[in-house]
Amino acid sequence: RARNLTFKLVLLGDGRVGKTSLVLRYVNNVFSEKQETTVQASYLTKRLVIGGVPITLSIWDTAGQERFHALGPIYYRDADAALLVYDITDSDTFLRVRKWVKELQQMASKDIVMVIAANKSDLIRSKKYDIQEAESYATTIGAKLFLTSAKFGTGINDVFLDIAARLLQK
Ligand code: GTP
Repeated sequence: RARNLTFKLVLLGDGRVGKTSLVLRYVNNVFSEKQETTVQASYLTKRLVIGGVPITLSIWDTAGQERFHALGPIYYRDADAALLVYDITDSDTFLRVRKWVKELQQMASKDIVMVIAANKSDLIRSKKYDIQEAESYATTIGAKLFLTSAKFGTGINDVFLDIAARLLQK
């Protein structure tokens, strides 16, 4: 492999689940209660060192709203990894993750690395939730599931470290 390893990561998930917030927390360590809806997509890079190996993640944060869905393939077709995000307080957003996975399995690279973030874990007490179903689903697609909170910054490093580690194993 070349010395400077760059991987493309796409974020996928329903509108308002916290995709932009996760990326901004990870890359810039900031959070906004009033994070605005992403139109189309935005792009950020993050360098990290894993097991002594420097890598660059080029992170594509896509719009979650259904009306932008047609743009999907443009972003994920050549992606090395996909971070699938849902809102733990809204089970409909988990169904959307399942839809994305099906689409990736048909359309994306066969060895794409997939990780699921169950986001807004800081709200867990306010609503009923069941993470077990989501966790066993993740296992069936060869993904790990992480509880995250972009608001409090919890679980986020673990998500990206898992992605990076698995990218290096490819
Ligand atoms: P789209 O651009 O519409 O696809 O949304 P998105 O998935 O990028 O979500 P975004 O990051 O814009 O966040 C949507 C709303 O949820 C914002 O008001 C955020 O402040 C809020 N939010 C994001 N992550 C968290 C979290 O972990 N906890 C809580 N409590 N709120 C969050």
